[in-house]
Amino acid sequence: MSVRNRVQVMHGVNLDMLGRRDAEHYGGVSFAELETRIGEFASGLDLHPRFFQSNHEGEFVEELHRVDGLADGIVLNPGAWTHYAWSIHDALEIAGLPAVEVHLSDLGAREPWRRTSVIGDLCVARITGQGVAGYRTALARLHEELAA
Ligand code: DQA
Repeated sequence: MSVRNRVQVMHGVNLDMLGRRDAEHYGGVSFAELETRIGEFASGLDLHPRFFQSNHEGEFVEELHRVDGLADGIVLNPGAWTHYAWSIHDALEIAGLPAVEVHLSDLGAREPWRRTSVIGDLCVARITGQGVAGYRTALARLHEELAA
């Protein structure tokens, strides 16, 4: 089988506002810095990332429809959509690729509604509370999955 190393990295609603969001939960990193760091983590694992961010649920869904043939796996942080957007669950199911869910903040230590994930059953792992480093953990987990 050919090498599977193309990763779609998807950020949902309000993630583009990093740097202006509560630093206690999200740290001080800007969105541009976050994507740079993810690019570095990916290179270290010999993975090739494609980045996508949207504040529009339908656009996020449509990107998941397009990903077939463009990526071998997905790392996604849908932001608040994680907790209620079943359309994203269904689109991720349609994408049919191995996926890892990642969150910057520690969802278990925040409001109870953040503990629900509509995509959890479709993901091989869920990484929360590791800040930016959580993306390295997520990519490493996906790398293992793609190599298996
Ligand atoms: C988040 C956690 C979500 O509950 C929140 O709505 C976000 C960011 C995180 O990365 O910690 O927007 O996904």
